[in-house]
Amino acid sequence: MKKTLLAALLLGASLFGSEAIVKQKCTACHMIDMPFTQAEMMKLTPQERMAKKQAVMKSMKAPPLSKVSAKLKYEFGNDKAKFTAFVKDYLRNPSAEKSKCMPMALKRFGVMPPIGKGLSDAELDSVASWLYTHFDTQWNPGEQQRCQGQKGPMKCGAGKCGKSTAKPAMKCGAGKCG
Ligand code: HEC
Repeated sequence: MKKTLLAALLLGASLFGSEAIVKQKCTACHMIDMPFTQAEMMKLTPQERMAKKQAVMKSMKAPPLSKVSAKLKYEFGNDKAKFTAFVKDYLRNPSAEKSKCMPMALKRFGVMPPIGKGLSDAELDSVASWLYTHFDTQWNPGEQQRCQGQKGPMKCGAGKCGKSTAKPAMKCGAGKCG
């Protein structure tokens, strides 16, 4: 009886533990998700939408974890083993070269500090796995402006970045986007 209880407690701890670690170690910088839904945004006027997005962007210190999860799933073709191996390594040894983030995010936020050095292997495993399973957000490469999706700055012609569908078109200085 005691043993079953202990096993149940341990199982509970490992299931709920990952989210607790995320709250403790990650949310100082990363929001878990965007603080508004797409449906809510669509109810606003374009001006209101833009203002809201800008206000949220201003308060951000890192990309939201829902976006990070979606981007990495996209990069690794939904291969959970590759995804978690990448996350575990990145948390201990982050670098601009390894990063799968959009170049604009790196430029804006800088490279993440090696937060994972303070975590055990088991904690890293559980956080990486949580990051994979907690979200079902899809990365839509068409959603982002084309010049943000490329590694390194993209050349642009006629003062516009790519054939962006985003309005207004992004300005670019000195032939570079962003
Ligand atoms: C001190 C702020 C900070 C903390 C704390 C932090 N991060 Fe980050 N993280 C960032 C920034 C900034 C980026 C974007 C730049 C980059 O990718 O290095 C980032 C990017 C990432 C990425 C994307 C890696 C890539 O491909 O570039 C992952 C995955 C990630 N964080 C996971 C975590 C997890 C999990 C935690 C908690 C254990 C955490 N972060 C805690 C700042 C932080």
